[in-house]
Amino acid sequence: MNLSEQLSQSIQEAFAKVGIAGEPIILKASSNPNFGDYQINGVMGAAKRLEKNPRELAQEVVDALQATCVASAEVAGPGFINLRLSNEFLSEYIEKALSDKRLSISLPESAETVVIDYSSPNLAKEMHVGHLRSTIIGDSLHRVWKFLGAKVIAQNHVGDWGTQFGMLVAYLVEQQSNGKAEYELADLECFYRNAKKRFDEDEAFADLSRQYVVKLQSGDKEVLALWQHFVTVSLQHAQEIYTRLNTLLAPDDVMGESMYNDALQPCVDELLQMGIARDDNGTKLIDLPNMPEKDGKTPVFIIQKQDGGFLYATTDLACLRHAVNQLQGTRLLYVVDARQSLHFNALFDVCRRTNWLPENVVAEHIPFGTMMGEDGKPFKTRAGDTVKLLDLLDEAEQRARDLVKSKNPDLSDGEIQHIARVVGIGAVKYADLSKNRLSDYIFSWDNMLSFEGNTAPYLQYAYTRVASLLRRSSSVAINTKCTISDDIEHQLAIALIQFEDVLKTVANSSNPHYLANYLYQIATLFSRFYENCPILQADEVVKNSRLQLSDLTGRTLKQGLELLGIEVLETM
Ligand code: ARG
Repeated sequence: MNLSEQLSQSIQEAFAKVGIAGEPIILKASSNPNFGDYQINGVMGAAKRLEKNPRELAQEVVDALQATCVASAEVAGPGFINLRLSNEFLSEYIEKALSDKRLSISLPESAETVVIDYSSPNLAKEMHVGHLRSTIIGDSLHRVWKFLGAKVIAQNHVGDWGTQFGMLVAYLVEQQSNGKAEYELADLECFYRNAKKRFDEDEAFADLSRQYVVKLQSGDKEVLALWQHFVTVSLQHAQEIYTRLNTLLAPDDVMGESMYNDALQPCVDELLQMGIARDDNGTKLIDLPNMPEKDGKTPVFIIQKQDGGFLYATTDLACLRHAVNQLQGTRLLYVVDARQSLHFNALFDVCRRTNWLPENVVAEHIPFGTMMGEDGKPFKTRAGDTVKLLDLLDEAEQRARDLVKSKNPDLSDGEIQHIARVVGIGAVKYADLSKNRLSDYIFSWDNMLSFEGNTAPYLQYAYTRVASLLRRSSSVAINTKCTISDDIEHQLAIALIQFEDVLKTVANSSNPHYLANYLYQIATLFSRFYENCPILQADEVVKNSRLQLSDLTGRTLKQGLELLGIEVLETM
């Protein structure tokens, strides 16, 4: 049981004893440590409903409260209760967490199966900055759920199908006859641009492209092989980015649009049979009366065009059924740009109505805002083009290398390279993950690479500080008793014990920034502790306790950053 569950249970028992069983307890971590560690705010509402004096009722709760972790409880203000946790309890927690690789974080009795659809670029083009957020937010949720014991299935719903691929195949054939195919494929962005140019300028080429689309859709072996070649090259490129970004995504997680091909027509037919979809002059569509009207009309979900072609929506219907039936997902998360909100609302609405999405399965769109340049407009190159993700990562490492070199010119090239990678990539990821995903954010190299403030370098530096302290102390006596006594120690310990609560909040809200902010809080508290509490010079008992507190701080930072997909360094 994590701390807040443990506390809540004791408080509920106390509420029951004083006759207010079932009233919401409203437990919060205190914002001001002078008042205590936690605050119970629920007594006032209960008192109002029962027409009792709130302070008196609060005092009754205090008298009835029996929780081994609580050292003192006090009524304050109009009827709050301030709780202070006991130092013995905190000390014991630290000893226990240190003796456990999982830092005492519990595993659930029955595990969820979480299907996370993330990254999902369109393969026609090279990955660009627009793919960054889905990739790293999704990856962090993947890591957190997995750590909390869920079975996680990543699904990379890449766009590998549709009319564009006819054009790309036609261009590929042309380049093969020139002997320039491999050369052209080395830069997918260029490849796409050139193909598009041919398509727009040459009617014969455009015709050929359209013929290839038809052949592709009817399963022509030769055309499929060409298409497959293009897709393979594009996926290799994506995988290169995933590796550079240190994400968990693997080739096996790719479940592209093309994989649902055979399921599309049956899907449409079933929907028609159920009377959920209707035929409107050849177009098959579903009315969405549960969704807000658009221009005074009920919106619709189009699932098949007049010419028989399927749409993004159709594929997602088949994809969702696959996640429920084949993957047995109990929670489906779609980490996709906020601009697709209507699409997902419609998708979930339809699937609830058909019961393809049973009540006990959670389905959520996890939207996110746009990455902006310092001019406040969507992030672009100076020339106004989209920024390739690969170029962005190169620049991150380059900037980090310059920074490391200037701070530490004596390091070997190999060391500089390693540190630059960890810091540069970490900085880009952290700058994103530490922001509320719903808002747009401004991408600023200077801010993200700063060693001050809520940044990856600051946290990574805090970790190396702990690592260096532990090295200097030769060995932390883990089995000795930990004794928390000082106020600063108490606050750091309180923060450390909240790790599990924070991870659960991250998982349930799909908000990695709660974890980032938590780690920043830990690093800040540690820094205060480090500057105010002598460690290596202290007497043996105090020294050991403080080393244990430091050790757990370091491990929490390392584990927490790992759950954001960010590495740490032992020295930097
Ligand atoms: N490929 C799509 C795009 O780039 C994102 C796919 C998201 N996943 C999904 N199941 N629709 O917009």
